[in-house]
Amino acid sequence: MMNKFISLLPKAELHLHIEGTFEPELMFKIAQRNNIKLEFNSVEELKKAYQFDCLQDFLNIYYAGASVLIHEQDCYDLTWAYLEECAKQNVRHTEIMFDPQTHTERGVKFETVVKGISNACQDAKDKLNVSSLLIMSYLRHLSEESAFKTLEESLPYKHLIKAVGLDSSEMGNPPSKFQRVFEASIKEGYIPVAHAGEEGPAEYIWEALNLLKIKRIDHGNNCFEDDLIEEIKKRDIALTVCPLSNTALRVVDDLKNHPVLKMMEKGLKVTINSDDPAYFGGQVNENYIQLQKALNLTKDQLIEFAENSFKYSLLGQKEKDDFLNELNSFIKTYH
Ligand code: ADE
Ligand code: ZN
Repeated sequence: MMNKFISLLPKAELHLHIEGTFEPELMFKIAQRNNIKLEFNSVEELKKAYQFDCLQDFLNIYYAGASVLIHEQDCYDLTWAYLEECAKQNVRHTEIMFDPQTHTERGVKFETVVKGISNACQDAKDKLNVSSLLIMSYLRHLSEESAFKTLEESLPYKHLIKAVGLDSSEMGNPPSKFQRVFEASIKEGYIPVAHAGEEGPAEYIWEALNLLKIKRIDHGNNCFEDDLIEEIKKRDIALTVCPLSNTALRVVDDLKNHPVLKMMEKGLKVTINSDDPAYFGGQVNENYIQLQKALNLTKDQLIEFAENSFKYSLLGQKEKDDFLNELNSFIKTYH
């Protein structure tokens, strides 16, 4: 009953790494056609390795998986597979992060990656009626210089990219390291967002707000300081929460203890997302379903997540209104 409601609920996904949607079956297929040998011998062996004690454990495997992507078609196939899942789940709009440096560091051209991904997005609009936009994420374990190089490489494709993000290993790589490159990115017209407070402290969320001028907080689990919460509310910024990611990476020990209710009680705007669905045990609907079960969430709370997902997307007002109207008609007929 609740599960059916969740699966039919029109929603947007605002925190999703395309490299994190790489299902083992597709990974092996692409590895094979590119004559690349993975360090795992089978899909089963690879899946067994998906046991993480922290973010870094996961990142090591995630970057290894992404290393089989060589050609534009590979990036297209990866993205298309994810967008087909969106259509099945009533994800009406998605804001896809991609990590250019994961590929350019291996000698794959920026152009190859961005064209493959954005062609799939265009086809999804036409054939699946799924809307999307792209967020280019800087890898925070790499240097400021490398991020600047990436910004430079992105400029010929600026029309295909809406925003810049910041991801990878958080501890020891504070937002302040990227203040200048975010400033330059904003000047180029990109909207800034960043992972903050996933493993890192509240201080990193402050820095992301004040130094990077972010318009959305990815994760934000460690936001519980009164003055920080007030600041986030004053700026009307949403949190892109990823429940199954949080338990898989031991940011939260059990979904029953997830801070999402506390966030909502404090008046914060929360959205529910899958982060890296191929690695964390579920797509966005599975995140809604398991969170609902663990916390006994009401339909109204689920609707609030969906509503926030459109309201706090990076779409223009007209598109937001169209999706919110669609959500409202769904609620009227289904509620
Ligand atoms: N890259 C992919 N998923 C990530 C996460 N949850 N945190 C930081 N970097 C990531
Ligand atoms: Zn993430």
